[in-house]
Order: sequence, then structure tokens, then C-alpha cells
Amino acid sequence: MKNLLLISLLLFSATTIGACSENNDISFPDTEQPESSDLPSGNSKTLVAYFSATGTTQAIAERITELTGADIYRINAADPYATNPYDDTERIQNEAYNDLRPGVANLPDKEAIAQYDTIFVGSPCWWHQPAMVVCTFLENYNLGNKIIIPFFTYGATTYLNESMQKIYKVTPEAIHIPATLPEDLDPENIREPQNDDAGIDMPNGPDDVEAWLLRIKSNQ
Ligand SMILES: Cc1cc2nc3c(=O)[nH]c(=O)nc-3n(C[C@H](O)[C@H](O)[C@H](O)COP(=O)(O)O)c2cc1C
Repeated sequence: MKNLLLISLLLFSATTIGACSENNDISFPDTEQPESSDLPSGNSKTLVAYFSATGTTQAIAERITELTGADIYRINAADPYATNPYDDTERIQNEAYNDLRPGVANLPDKEAIAQYDTIFVGSPCWWHQPAMVVCTFLENYNLGNKIIIPFFTYGATTYLNESMQKIYKVTPEAIHIPATLPEDLDPENIREPQNDDAGIDMPNGPDDVEAWLLRIKSNQ
């Protein structure tokens, strides 16, 4: 019942925001979803696409999928990161600070992504940015008029705005939830904390996902 409530709320949200889209037929099958998938499969109009190295972002992604009936897709790096990603910290910092685009091992076909109207996009905050493989994934598709809902996990919120801004920059034609972000104080400066995260709402763990979905809906 709760699922149905969330589904109808998101359905309302997506169709309202996507009013300029030609295809507003968003539906969420009320079925059990696989816990994780290397390629999106299913008939949902909503996809949860995420990268996760140590499982924190994955847990949020799976909870969104449970509650919404969305399809799920895990972005894998072509050159995998160390089991403990802190062992790859120099590589990760280089990718973030130099705006690199590491390869994705399992990029879905363009047709597979075209079927979705709404895409939740999840990533850890890595050196003040999304994991850059997430940007590689996003830039591979025409996401005009699709609804993009980013979510991040992080150790400190100081760089959340910078990470969100990056997702918005690489999906310029998309419709974003939230529609606007706090002003990025210096968009070129991703290396110094700018304390500009206030007002960005993220789920505080899997148990908060349901409330987060309702919060982002009520803020539309
Ligand atoms: C190399 C590296 C860099 C990180 N950089 C940041 C950062 O800039 N800001 C932050 O808040 N957390 C940072 N973190 C912490 C991760 O964002 C956090 O642990 C996240 O929840 C991990 O998600 P995952 O388990 O899905 O991989 C970093 C972690 C690693 C391994």
C-alpha cells in the first residue's frame, strides 16, 4: 500500500514536471525487482542507474528500486577500482580534478536508455565530484526531456553542491529534480570547500529513502 502511495506520488511528480515531454506515460510495475543488474532490464519507465564501490550508494539505489518498481542498472568501470577505493585515491583525484571520463564496461544500448522517462542517478562523492564514470555514462545518451534525479552518498557534505552541479552540467537538456541548486559560489573551484550545500536534500541511508522520495515530491 505504501509502495502504491509512493508510486502514485512519483507518477504525479514525473508527469507534472515532464509536461513538455511527448511521452508522459510513466508507469511503475508493482513487482519485485532484482537486487542489482549489470544492464537495465524490465518494462518500467523509470531507471535507477548508479555507481558504487563499497555498497553505500548501492543500498540507496536498491531501496529506491524497491519502493518505485524502477529498473536498476549498476555502472561498472572498464578499468575497475581497487577493492578499497582509498588505495586508488590518486587516480580518483586525477579523474575528478581533470574532468576525465573513465570508460564504462557495461554501457547499455541507446535504445535501452531511450525507454526511460525518469532516471535516478546515484554516485558516491569522490574528490568533490561524482565518480567520473557516472559522467561517462550520462554523456553517452540524449537525455533531453528526461527527468534526472541525482543522489549522492558522501563522508562530508561540503562538496555535495559541487557534485550535484556536475551532474546538471553533463545533462544540460534534462529536467532536474530538484529544479535548481544553491548558487555554486565558484563553479571552477572544486578543490576548496565552499560551504554551499545548504538546502540540498539527500536520503540519510536506505531507511530514509521513502521519506526522501516524499520530500522531493512535496517540494515540486
Ligand atoms: C577516493 C575517495 C574520495 C572521496 N572523496 C569524498 C569527498 O570528496 N567528499 C565526501 O563527502 N566523501 C568522499 N568520500 C567518501 C565517499 O563518498 C563515501 O564513503 C561514499 O558513501 C562511498 O559510497 P560507495 O560505498 O557507494 O562507494 C571519498 C571516498 C573515497 C574512496
